[in-house]
Amino acid sequence: MNFDTIYQYNFPTIIRFGQGSSKELGDYLVKNDLLRPLIVTDPIVAQLDFFKKMLTELKGKKISVEVFSDLHKNPVKSDVYKGTDVYDNTSRNAVVGIGGGVALDVARAIVLRVNHREDLFKYDDLIGGDVYVTNDVPHFITIPTTAGTGSEVGRSAIIADDDTHQKKILFSPKLLAKVVFADPMLTMDLPAPVTAATGMDALTHNIEAFLAKMPHPLCEGIALEGIALIHQSLENAVNKPDLQSRSKMLIASLMGAVAFQKGLGVVHSLAHPLSALLDTHHGLANAVNIPYGMQFNIKGCEDKFKRIARTLELKKESGEAVVEYLFDLNSNIGIPHKLSRIGVKAEHINTLADLAIADFAHPNNPKPVTREDFKGLYENAL
Ligand SMILES: NC(=O)c1ccc[n+]([C@@H]2O[C@H](COP(=O)([O-])OP(=O)(O)OC[C@H]3O[C@@H](n4cnc5c(N)ncnc54)[C@H](O)[C@@H]3O)[C@@H](O)[C@H]2O)c1
Ligand SMILES: [Fe+2]
Repeated sequence: MNFDTIYQYNFPTIIRFGQGSSKELGDYLVKNDLLRPLIVTDPIVAQLDFFKKMLTELKGKKISVEVFSDLHKNPVKSDVYKGTDVYDNTSRNAVVGIGGGVALDVARAIVLRVNHREDLFKYDDLIGGDVYVTNDVPHFITIPTTAGTGSEVGRSAIIADDDTHQKKILFSPKLLAKVVFADPMLTMDLPAPVTAATGMDALTHNIEAFLAKMPHPLCEGIALEGIALIHQSLENAVNKPDLQSRSKMLIASLMGAVAFQKGLGVVHSLAHPLSALLDTHHGLANAVNIPYGMQFNIKGCEDKFKRIARTLELKKESGEAVVEYLFDLNSNIGIPHKLSRIGVKAEHINTLADLAIADFAHPNNPKPVTREDFKGLYENAL
């Protein structure tokens, strides 16, 4: 770390964490005079019992509720435009995102679009679009129902182009939620495969953030504790879930997203093209790629890998031991070791490598990654 430089660190979100915290939503809306919220969720969560109960409770408090849930599995720009039309046409005055990363990202992108009507991708962070996010945005509240992306505490939304499926990142500190209600009870019935895939996304955030090149001791501390919590709880959350394992996963996923303001890395850049090209779930794509990505990162990061190994309570404190741990963890939670098992074919690799090198995540990887490196990593994982 260079102590001659001025760094900026932000930890501003109010987080109401704990069993039952989501029940505070209604009173919060009433207290803040937000009686016409747009609730953004996905079509599956919209059908779940806890969601229906939440709506009933809100209506009981005389809150006018409008639900938008017409989202793609990997969300695209037109989802955001449709949701914004609903916001406008039904005169809403706040946005509540309830769901996994998809619902929360679309909710956040709607929050942006309400008062920023240029083409959505003009605000793409990779081309410096955040400078155009200058107007006020609606009051934004998030309620996560998966323990993975940590999007509830994020300031970015990942939305793909409808035609190319390339993921763009919309970023602005204005897009932070004003309050997060993080209630582990909402994740109790997450199916095992979703728990596994989203949990590995959270682990990838914590590990990649810990390794990312930006100097940020606060985030590194958070990331290591996030890794420890996931080590203690992910296998149980998948195989015999209880409140303890669900709670630890929920807070660890949130910590991963706080930590990755430091940056992500090669694994996310390997994963994003799989979602773009093959509609693979984001967490699953990270899960299969992370052991290979970490093998690639060991050289030059030996000390940091030792600290990860210590956090994971491994007998051998080395990068290789961390890689082995990741393969074993994947086996124990039902995630395959090979990309061919999730629909990737040799003929996809060139296109995947083109998309990966154009991705926004790898510039923060602790070491540079070339297109050839991406190709090699995909071939290795195939
Ligand atoms: N904004 C960010 O910082 C950030 C970071 C990482 C990933 N992402 C994005 O997040 C998305 C992935 O999010 P995700 O992994 O949470 O997946 P997701 O939102 O697609 O949810 C996974 C599945 O679980 C279902 N589900 C959600 N909650 C449930 C519950 N309580 N019970 C039963 N089923 C439930 C959903 O309907 C969905 O089918 C991707 O689009 C990715 O690009 C965003
Ligand atoms: Fe992720």
